[in-house]
Formats: sequence, structure tokens, C-alpha cells
Amino acid sequence: MVVIFGASGDLTARKLIPAVYNLAYDNLLPADFFLVGFGRKAIPDDEFRKMAGDAIKEFSRRELNQDIWGRLAPNTSYVAGGYDEKPAFDRLAQHLSEIEKKVGREVQPLFYISTPPSVFAPILKNLGASGLAAKYRGQAHQAKVVIEKPFGRDLESAQALNGTIRSVLDEPQVYRIDHYLGKETVQDLLVQRFANSIFEPLWNRNFISSVQITVAEEGGVGSRGGYYEQSGCLRDMIQNHTMQLLALTAMEPPVSLDPEAIRDEKVKLLKAIQPLALGPGGDVARAQYVAGMTGGKSVPGYLQEEGINPQSATETYAALRLSIHNWRWQGVPFYLRSGKRLARRVSEIAINFKRPPGTLFAEKGARFDLAANTLSFQIQPDEGLSLILNTKIPGLETRTQPVKMSFRYATTFGSNTPEAYERLVLDAMIGDGTLFIRGDETEASWRICTPILQSWAAAGRNGMDTYPAGSWGPKSAEELVTKNGHAWRQP
Ligand code: NDP
Ligand code: BG6
Repeated sequence: MVVIFGASGDLTARKLIPAVYNLAYDNLLPADFFLVGFGRKAIPDDEFRKMAGDAIKEFSRRELNQDIWGRLAPNTSYVAGGYDEKPAFDRLAQHLSEIEKKVGREVQPLFYISTPPSVFAPILKNLGASGLAAKYRGQAHQAKVVIEKPFGRDLESAQALNGTIRSVLDEPQVYRIDHYLGKETVQDLLVQRFANSIFEPLWNRNFISSVQITVAEEGGVGSRGGYYEQSGCLRDMIQNHTMQLLALTAMEPPVSLDPEAIRDEKVKLLKAIQPLALGPGGDVARAQYVAGMTGGKSVPGYLQEEGINPQSATETYAALRLSIHNWRWQGVPFYLRSGKRLARRVSEIAINFKRPPGTLFAEKGARFDLAANTLSFQIQPDEGLSLILNTKIPGLETRTQPVKMSFRYATTFGSNTPEAYERLVLDAMIGDGTLFIRGDETEASWRICTPILQSWAAAGRNGMDTYPAGSWGPKSAEELVTKNGHAWRQP
């Protein structure tokens, strides 16, 4: 049984309900599966079912199948109440007991907190006070809780939230979500790194010159201006999604595929990141988009968007240069960047290899066009892997040219792959925490990001760069990489 807090919201409609529906479609839910919505609005069961059906029609990767929905809809219901009202949670507990009576067995509840973060703590406290958090604790079907992002706004608030969680739940009951971990290429990172013997011997400072992680979005802040003003790119994307990509790319091989073994390695890696140089000429860049062109259309700048303070000091772009102080990575810069209203939507991890000694093919001029080898993991769109190699152009003369060797999941396996949220909701239900974030991981990441946020808060708009919407970002981000003799890839 899945209980969604914030069930009338955007994420529920766009991702969670379609995920549940597709799991039902794939026969991955029990026959007597129940979906319960919870929220402050009074929504009759029938209306909630209609909202859910409409959400599937609009957002599911598969069309609404009347047989499947016909089985799911009667088991879909809604409980109205405030997130900080204990009696509302008692009513929810009563509702869940009635469902158990109906099916004649104990049913594992998965509570999904999909509300704005301001009510994460009251919901957790009431799950504790009503006894719902302790339901079947210690047994395989113990209550579990998925918590949406953002997990805190800095180190202190993340520690406080972890404290609230610990006061009502055991860590194995907690699933802090980062939907990037549910993306296919991200899951494949572990397989590529540790199931292929060609990569590991090269995966270090001896062969790799730099690593670039890009999470670029074409869209602007859209209707989420209110949220974004309080968040900004560092909190919204870097602290969570890109740091997770970095941890999986750079961590040591875990001793097993056990979730704790993988999380231990990620934490070790995050703790090895050196404090950043802040201020002008340092390791960070931030910027806001100004008016420009996206998809052939003129779009306004961030400061002109609806709901945005015209004097806002919120960054829509952030780039970081990180150094990892360990045996494997000493001296290899890791460049991270993310932003809204960039040239196109693309997320990738690019591993740039060192060039071979230049004794052969070194003649200047057009004959030898050579590039550094780059292995890139394309997370989205068009998921896959590619490797840039130098090759001889067929012909009587020896001339060279870089070529791209590509593998695309869609070409090999077909294109109808599950959405990240399907995998993550299923994993939480079956109790597999591998693709979720442990409390100490999120704190390790905040330890890196909080000093940056503090320095930006102190500077206000001083040092805020700009970039035209539809471009690849600000000049200050270019300088971050050119200083080391590198350049951003144009993915
Ligand atoms: P919404 O703003 O749509 O809020 C979800 C529900 O929470 C609302 O329908 C409302 O239900 C309730 N709610 C809204 N504002 C408040 C408030 N101030 N106080 C208490 N309750 C409130 O959020 P989303 O669905 O967009 O996001 C939910 C969570 O998921 C957030 O933590 C967000 O950061 C995260 N997330 C969202 C993504 C997205 O694309 N939407 C992407 C990734 C993460 P009611 O009034 O009935 O109680
Ligand atoms: C969310 C951010 O976590 O990720 C959004 O809050 C962002 O601002 C979104 O747009 C991007 O996710 P995806 O899966 O579309 O790359």
C-alpha cells in the first residue's frame, strides 16, 4: 500500500501516480494493492480517482488501460487533513486498519512525503505520534517512508531533519530520494565501471586528466518561481543530483552490491573533497540567465520571470571545480555545472583521458587531427555511452581524425524503458535502499555546499555573472576550466 502526502500536487500527478500505474501494468504490485492520498484539501474519493486517471492519461509513458485501471481505481482513496494535525493522522491510521481488515492480512505501508519541505518535519512527527511509523517495525513489512528533496537548505537544517527522522524511524525505514539515481545510465555506471575489466585500470590520476559532469536544462523556472527563488541552482541540482553523479563516478569499488557498502564508498568519496576556494578567481561560478532565445523563441531573463524578485540574488547556473584528496584522484579536477535555460537539455558525465606522448602523429597541420580520448555517459536524452577515439582516415595517405563510437540503449534494447520514479517506488516498496541517499551522505554533500551558499549570501548580487538564455553559460564558468588548460565540452 502506498500513502502519498501532498497527493493533489504536481509531482504526484506527473510522476508518482503514473509510476504506480506502470508498476501495476508490469504486474509488479500485489493483486490487493491500495493507493491512499492525503492532503489538506477535502477531496472526495471519486474525485481523487478521477484526478489519478487524468494524471495517467496525461503523463504515463503508456496509455491508460481500462482493465488495469479498473482494478487499481476501486482501491484508490483519499484522507483529508492537516500535516500538523495529530487527529488527522489518527484518522489515516484508522483508514489503513480498515483496508487491512478488508484484505484480511497485515499490509506494509509505504509513506511517500511529496509536499513542500516546510511540512516534512510535522508529517514525520505525526507519523511517529500516531504509531504509523512504528507499524510492523523490525519485520520485513515494516512501515517505510520516502522523503522528497530538497533535504534541508544547508548543513544545519539537514542535520535537524535527520534528527527528526531518527526520533521516529530507524534508518532502514528511510528512503531519501534523488530521482537521478533511478535514471538508467546512472544505474549502469556501476555496471560499466565494475563489470568491465577495461575501465578500472585506467580509472585514476595516471590516465585521466579531468572529469566533467553536466546537468543542463533548456527550460526556465516555469511555474515554480516561488520555490526556485528560495532554492537556486546549487541547492536544487548541485547539492543532490550532480554530487550523486560525482560520488558514483569517483568512488572506490564497493566490497559488495549491498546498499550500505555502496553508500559507505560514496560517503568516503564526498568526505575526500577539498574545501573550495571561494570569491573571485576561486573554484565556483554563479550566474543568472538574461533574455535570449530558446527553441527558436524569445524568452525573458530570470529577473523578468513571474514571481521573481527583480533584485533577486538567486543563481540559475552554478559551476564548481572540485579536487578529491585521495590516492586515486589527487590532481584531477572534477568540473560540475548545472543551469536552467541553457542551449539544450542534456546530462552527461565525461571522462577525459590524458593524451599519449606526442612522438608520433605530431606533425603540425591538417594531416593529424587528434583529440583526447573521452568516455561519456549520456544520462539524458538519448541515453547511452560514447567513446572518442582517433582513427586513420581510409586512403593512401596517413591522415587522422577523431571519431565517436556510440552505444545507445534504445537501439539495442528498445525505447520504452521505465521512468526513474517507477524503479524508485518499487525499490522502496521491496526495501532496497541502494538508489536512495543515507543521512550521512546528504550531510557530507551539504558540508561542501554550505560554505559556498554562505559566501554567496554575504556577497548578495556582487559577483553574480549572467548568460543569455539559450547559451552554454557564463564567461566565469569558462574561466574556471581554462585556468587549468581545459575547456567545457559541448555535449
Ligand atoms: P506542490 O507545490 O505541488 O505541493 C504538493 C502538495 O502539498 C499540494 O498539492 C498541497 O496539497 C500541499 N502544499 C502545497 N503548499 C503547501 C504549504 N505551503 N504547506 C503545506 N502543504 C502545502 O509540490 P510538488 O508536487 O511540486 O513537489 C512535492 C515535493 O517533491 C517537493 O518537496 C519538491 O521539492 C519535490 N520535487 C518536485 C518535483 C516536481 O517536478 N514537481 C521534482 C523533484 C522533486 P494540499 O493543499 O492538499 O495539502
Ligand atoms: C528537480 C529540480 O530535482 O530536477 C528541477 O527540482 C529540475 O528544478 C528537475 O527541473 C530535473 O529533472 P529531470 O529528470 O527532468 O532532469
